[in-house]
Amino acid sequence: MRIAVLPGDGIGKEVVPVAVDVLQAVMPEAEYVYINVGNERFMREGTAMSEEDLDTIKKCDCVLFGAITSPPKKIYPSVILTLRRELDAYANVRPFKSSAISPYKVDFIIYRENSEDLYCGIEEVTDDQVLSTRKITRHASERIARKACSRPGLQKLTIVHKANVLRSCELFRDVCIGVAKKSGVPYEEMLVDAMAYNLIRKPSQFDTIVTTNLFGDILSDEAAALIGGLGLSPSANIGDRYALFEPVHGSAPDIAGRGIANPIAAVLSAKMLLEWAGYRAKAERVQEAVDHIISHGILTPDLGGKFKTEDVGLYIVKNLEST
Ligand code: NAD
Ligand code: IPM
Ligand code: MN
Repeated sequence: MRIAVLPGDGIGKEVVPVAVDVLQAVMPEAEYVYINVGNERFMREGTAMSEEDLDTIKKCDCVLFGAITSPPKKIYPSVILTLRRELDAYANVRPFKSSAISPYKVDFIIYRENSEDLYCGIEEVTDDQVLSTRKITRHASERIARKACSRPGLQKLTIVHKANVLRSCELFRDVCIGVAKKSGVPYEEMLVDAMAYNLIRKPSQFDTIVTTNLFGDILSDEAAALIGGLGLSPSANIGDRYALFEPVHGSAPDIAGRGIANPIAAVLSAKMLLEWAGYRAKAERVQEAVDHIISHGILTPDLGGKFKTEDVGLYIVKNLEST
């Protein structure tokens, strides 16, 4: 398997090496193709990601991505949004499962539509007014709903929308309900504001959530807080041909360069890569190693610990080598 490795900016450069060490410990035969993309490169070279980079990435089987700092104004297209589009990675799968140190007990997955909504890039800008188009299609709604409904072991689907205000959400909701009925999946629907409330009030009631792009983005940071933070929250961007794995978090400029970023979100993203590639036993070993170090208090400062990014990585790899 050939994996494109894109550490990106800020803490992306600190946590991705740990994820690669973990992959190498369980899958030494894989090939890793490093590509430097992001805002730091843009500042140096005037390009954040070139066509050539994209070609190289498409010659790989999948991508391990860190995070990229967005420029203060949209002076060039977002690298991560370009990648999601170019790889047609239409399903953003974000699992939230509590560990020994989580403040709440939850176990659910957000399936976030990853290709359209306000992210479609159709914007009309004048000095005094900006119109951002929200595009929702039957096709994209159907494929994310099908992805969510085909989750193994699914118990209940929660369809999150704002159909009381937006016609686009009416379409999304109706398509999701159609797919749920056809798949024989128990479902409920919830307005996104109520969802934001219930996610904090009684998060254990959720199992599988499907929603549109921007709502999924916002709800996933909220969900991360339930399990202990962004430092613990991995994600996968899945298409029919390619997949890209990345932490939910960004480049965290407030802590970048200090060696204290929590690498677990990146490591668990690598675990999702292993699952996607069919290496279930290897994925399980990675999860067990992470659970082990968490329960032994080997934690970075975001979780109240004193350990550095590198230390956490070393302990995870040591645990993997002993199992
Ligand atoms: P962020 O996710 O980078 O950070 C939010 C907060 O969480 C910060 O206080 C940060 O220190 C903390 N945090 C995040 N990850 C952590 C980790 N692994 N360990 C410990 N603490 C962690 O969000 P932000 O600050 O709003 O965004 C920073 C930049 O990242 C922005 O330019 C944003 O656009 C970008 N971003 C990129 C991606 C991506 O490339 N996939 C995702 C989200 C944000
Ligand atoms: C995420 C990020 C991205 C998004 C940004 C950086 C474009 O917040 O992956 O959650 O909004 O999808
Ligand atoms: Mn986000």
